[in-house]
Parts: sequence; structure tokens; C-alpha cells
Amino acid sequence: MRDVSIVGIGQLPVEKTTSKSLRQLGAAAVRLAMEDANVEKVDALFASNMLADELQGQKHIAALIADEANLTGIEALQVGAAMASGAAALRMAYLAVGSGEADLAVAVGVEKMSEGVAAPALAKALDVEREVADGATMITKNAELMRLYFERYKVPEDGLVNFPVTAHRNARNNPNALFYGQSVSPRSVRNSRVVYPPLRLMDCSPICDGAAAVVLAPSQEARAYSPHPVMILASSVSTDRFRVEDRANPLWLEAAHISAQKAFRLANVNREDVNLYEVHDAFSIMACLLLEAVGFAEPGQGWRLAAEKRIGLRGEIPITTMGGLKARGHPIGATGLYQTCEIVLQLTERAGKNQVRNASIAMMQSVGAAATTVLTHIFGSNVANS
Ligand code: COA
Repeated sequence: MRDVSIVGIGQLPVEKTTSKSLRQLGAAAVRLAMEDANVEKVDALFASNMLADELQGQKHIAALIADEANLTGIEALQVGAAMASGAAALRMAYLAVGSGEADLAVAVGVEKMSEGVAAPALAKALDVEREVADGATMITKNAELMRLYFERYKVPEDGLVNFPVTAHRNARNNPNALFYGQSVSPRSVRNSRVVYPPLRLMDCSPICDGAAAVVLAPSQEARAYSPHPVMILASSVSTDRFRVEDRANPLWLEAAHISAQKAFRLANVNREDVNLYEVHDAFSIMACLLLEAVGFAEPGQGWRLAAEKRIGLRGEIPITTMGGLKARGHPIGATGLYQTCEIVLQLTERAGKNQVRNASIAMMQSVGAAATTVLTHIFGSNVANS
């Protein structure tokens, strides 16, 4: 494998609903990323999307986007891992460039959740036969994890409040965030509507539309495309027992743990080296459990990182630095690519008011369903001499 770097990024603002079609959204993100990399052609395109088949009646997204982006003739494949699909597309592009199959590859994610009813379509990431048939959705699964966590570790009722508060604070300065410019107080989180006990509205990521893309090139050539390339130091993926109920300890996210450990080895970095962590905060409890699985906190202690305000931009482990899934938005198939674009901005000191000081190593995790599939990517800013 040769080293691979990100040489172009493109993000469209996340919206509650967009008038753009899937093909327009995807192609717009691809064009932005290619313009950023100063390239007119790539060898391969990997696209991620989870819900178009259900909500728009559209399959075959990768070729659709390639066509709209005037890239006909190239390899164009769709990559899927439920809510982690964006990171899966990134991984496939990374492997394609790393292996030499492609010299330039684009990973693009697109989702339009605003059309139709998203919840039943999202639930299909669970076991349809044994979970969905009993009424399970992503909301009920996360609410159950939250209830169990609160009971087992005697967490105060407002123990997770600072997860959404931090995400929303950071989204205020991100023009691509759904909740850009909006303030959210701890009280409004505490008083938000109970969606499924004990989970409240403000514990959930929102339904939204969006698209984002990145262009990848061999690190040896990266500076020919970009004055500020960012290297992918590791890409790993792991899976857990499919159903939470089948796991020995439902509050321990083994796939997140294994995937993180593997990524640390591949990147030859230590957890303490990580300057910021783009966590998959689809629900507050998921952010909390991921922090524990990676080792940023002991089991049962992740909530304290939030409660003690250690996850802010100047904190010990900054998370959701541009708003996270909670406040930038979680347009499912696009999310992993938004996270990647934001990390590129952080590692190249272009994150504006949300800049994490001296950030040189960043980590990202992307989660399919209730952490059944977890991808970890680690990125580094210093590629000048690679
Ligand atoms: N966070 C903050 N505000 C939210 C929100 C969220 N998650 N979801 C909706 N809102 C706001 C809307 O912007 C709207 O505000 P407005 O009246 O000022 O415009 C208001 O709440 C009502 O919006 P609405 O769309 O009617 O809410 P809803 O009750 O239909 O949906 C949820 C709320 C929580 C059910 C929905 O956001 C949801 O299903 N989220 C989870 C999605 C999911 O499972 N993703 C996959 C994760 S793995």
C-alpha cells in the first residue's frame, strides 16, 4: 500500500429539505471537491447512500452521480454499511488509491431524508426479523441503551446534556451546519420533548438532506494538487454481534473498540496523540459509549467528560468540533464525508472560530446501526515529506 492523502473537499450546507435531486446534490459535492483539488478527471468514484432506494425509489447512485458530474466512463461503485456508509466509501477510495488501482479517487456521500418517512427505512439497519418485527427503531434502541446506562452507572438525569450543548455551540460557527447560527441552552436540552423515554428530542440527530465529497491522491503527489493535503494514517473496520441483545455487555461497543485499536496500530499513534475526535453522535448515548469504547473514558465514566466540560474545543478531547451529527446534521450516507471534510479543515487550520489549537492528529468513527459496524479513520496533517 502506498500512502494516501486527501487533496480536495466539498460540502453542501446541510438543509432540512432541499429542492435539489439526488444526482444534483451528489454531483455538486463532487464538483466542489474536484475544484478544490484542481482536477477535471478522477479514475474512480465511490458513493454512499442509505435511503434513496426507500425514499426516492432510486438505486445505482454511484453511476447516477458520475453521469451528472460528467465523469462517464470511470469506475463508479456504491458502498454500503448502513449509517457508516460515508466512511465505507472513504475506505474504498483509500484502498483504491493505496493499492494503485486508481491514482485519483473521489468518495461522495448523499442523502435526502426529507422525502417520505425516514424512521422505518432507517430501522432496516437493524435485524428486520428479530428486532424491527417487535417495533424496534434506531430511536428505541438508543433509548434502551440510555436507560440501561443511567440505571447501571447511576447517572444523574441531566448527565448527557452537554453532548448536544457542545455540538450546538460548535455548529453556530459552521455555515454548513443545519443549526448554523443558532444557540441552544442546557435548559432547552433538559426541557426538550421526550421522544422515547428517557431519550429527548435534543438527544437525537435530526432528519436532513446533504452531500459531501473528498478527492484522494497518493501522498507522494499530494502537493501537486493541494497546498494543504491531509494524510489518511489509518482506515479500519470491525463488526459486532448484529443485535445489541446478543452482546455480553450491551453497553460495551466492541466493534468500536477493536476498530480503534487496529487504527491506532496502523497509524502508529497513541490515543493520547489524538487532538480531536469526530465521534458518531447520532444520539447522545452513542457519543458517550464510543468515548468509553475507544478508551477516552472508563466504562460508566464517559458522561463525565461531557458533564465536566472536557469535550469542548479547548478541552482534553474535543469532539463534534463543527457541530457533529447532532447539530451539523446527520444526512446518513453523507455523514462520514462531512466528518472527513471537517477534519481536513481542522488539520489545515481552516476551521475558523472552531479551530482546535495545534491539531495534527484527528480521529473519526462512523457507526452502522447500534455499533454493529464501526469504521475508524485516523488523519495526520504533516504530509510534506511523505
Ligand atoms: N434536534 C433539534 N431540533 C430538532 C430535531 C433534533 N433532532 N428534530 C427536529 N427538530 C426541530 C425542528 O427543527 C423543528 O423546529 P421548528 O419548529 O423551529 O422548525 C421542530 O424540532 C419540530 O420538527 P419535526 O421535524 O416536526 O420533529 P419530529 O418530531 O418530526 O422529529 C425526531 C424529531 C427526533 C423524531 C427526528 O429528528 C428523528 O427521527 N431523529 C432521529 C433520526 C435517526 O434515527 N437517525 C439515524 C441515527 S443512527
